[in-house]
Amino acid sequence: MTLNQTSLVEHLAPRPFRFYQQADSTNDLALAWLSQGAPSGAAVIADEQLKGRGRLGRSWYTPPSTALIVSVILHPAPQHLAQITMLGAVSICEMIESLGASNVGIKWPNDVQLNGLKVSGVLPEAVWEGGKLRGVVLGMGVNVRQDFSHTELATTAISLEPALGKTLDRSELLAFLLARMDNGVEHLGTSSLFNAWKSRLNTLGQSVSLLNNGQSISGIAEGVDENGALLVRDRTGQLQRVLAGDIAMGS
Ligand code: BTN
Repeated sequence: MTLNQTSLVEHLAPRPFRFYQQADSTNDLALAWLSQGAPSGAAVIADEQLKGRGRLGRSWYTPPSTALIVSVILHPAPQHLAQITMLGAVSICEMIESLGASNVGIKWPNDVQLNGLKVSGVLPEAVWEGGKLRGVVLGMGVNVRQDFSHTELATTAISLEPALGKTLDRSELLAFLLARMDNGVEHLGTSSLFNAWKSRLNTLGQSVSLLNNGQSISGIAEGVDENGALLVRDRTGQLQRVLAGDIAMGS
């Protein structure tokens, strides 16, 4: 059940993909492929990632043979850009739910959680040229068998195999994930994708605190809008609209 070129051809054909045993960042490789004209749905996959990029300038290191590391190239209409993050998070949730997991949710905006711990992160990157959207790279990392004990992530991160008590085939998981993404792409701009994302958000109704443009906001997460912004009722009763950030819950 090794992840390699042969297992990926077997599971992903006829999708165009590039597989790397080791990569610095699959998002960077996918951005380069996008600039060379990669078609929608093309995927860059790695077994090990040395300089993976996370949200808000963080790093995302992945040891060999422990995770799904994939970046998918998409060519959405510009008005659907806001839903690309939702597409990634929802497709990952669907993949995990298909394994029989019940406690799967999304911490706004796009951390996928299993049993309340982070199992996956999503990093979309759009490329604009002369005011036109050239395309998007949707990077996704899913912890499959990464051991977080004795690391700083021990109390916040989780991997699928130990959590579900099963051995998983990463090529099969990727095939399922990418098929769900193909399906989701058909629903970009519709309320069904938005509702699939919103219904899995475990942030709504919670007390949250976060930084918005350098300003700290605390309050109740009352809702989200169609662009994915979080609507927070702050302590003065004002509704604040937050487009990006990292929330602490229960503060
Ligand atoms: C996050 O901070 O939660 C997002 C993490 C995204 C990591 C993935 S792994 C595949 C792709 N390549 C990267 O360099 N980053 C993304």
